[in-house]
Amino acid sequence: MIIRKSDEVSRSPVRRFPVPRNFGMDRQSRIGRGKTWPAPRGAKHVKAFDVYRYDPESGENPRIDRFRVDLDDCGSMVLDALFWIKDRVDSTLAFRRSCREGVCGSCAMNMDGTNWLACTRFISDLGDPARIYPLTSRSIIKDLVPDLTDAFAQYELIEPWLQTRSPEPETERLQSADERSRIDGYYECILCFCCTSACPSHWWNPRRFLGPAALLHAWRWLTDSRDEATEERLDALEDPFRLYRCHTILNCTRTCPKGLNPGKAIAEIKRKMLERRG
Ligand code: SF4
Ligand code: SF4
Ligand code: FES
Repeated sequence: MIIRKSDEVSRSPVRRFPVPRNFGMDRQSRIGRGKTWPAPRGAKHVKAFDVYRYDPESGENPRIDRFRVDLDDCGSMVLDALFWIKDRVDSTLAFRRSCREGVCGSCAMNMDGTNWLACTRFISDLGDPARIYPLTSRSIIKDLVPDLTDAFAQYELIEPWLQTRSPEPETERLQSADERSRIDGYYECILCFCCTSACPSHWWNPRRFLGPAALLHAWRWLTDSRDEATEERLDALEDPFRLYRCHTILNCTRTCPKGLNPGKAIAEIKRKMLERRG
């Protein structure tokens, strides 16, 4: 009888390598079980929220607290549930928010495994328990508040303002309707960094690859007919890491809560680089 290689493999005992739990992970990544808070007495429609908690000043590891939210006493968005928890159960819960209508970008977090805005995600879209974590791959300042210092530094690096070389016109710098439409799909970015936090290439090179949010803005200025710094902008991106670490995985486009397409913006920059080379 001929024994094929695949048969040998399938008959061999399963080998398990006893990698210790939390092996080699830094403290922010070692998550333990936290407190479980009961539902209010008499609540009829209750949903559990497992929420990431971390306070670096406490000296303790992060933990997951379970809160049981009374849905009859709470608005319909995840941000409403976080307010409910903060107001009624644990006032120490930290999260960012401002506009409450998907405009400021500050309530970006990871819900059931996807980066999105807490103010525009319906509670009913999440499982039970709903899993609420901070934005992926960022250092954590406290609870659901990520450190975005590097992300904004990368945004600044692309010089996100209009740059001109020609003399000032008497009136404003005009655009045709067609020229104006070229920044549609880019100027709407609210800098929530859901995309950059979801980008595997950025996880591996967080300092050197600019990431989808900054690159989308780079294209927003490259495609603006009034901007006259095209060559300098392309020179700044002509680098093995800043632009070319994008491998078109498109996590960024899938997770953008404003429906934008950073992957396309990056492809447009690469196309312009090629055109320039001739
Ligand atoms: S398309 Fe590029 S920027 Fe977007 S997630 Fe993939 S690698 Fe990151
Ligand atoms: S492109 Fe979308 S996901 Fe990325 S920062 Fe802008 S709005 Fe947020
Ligand atoms: S609070 Fe402003 S986008 Fe959610």
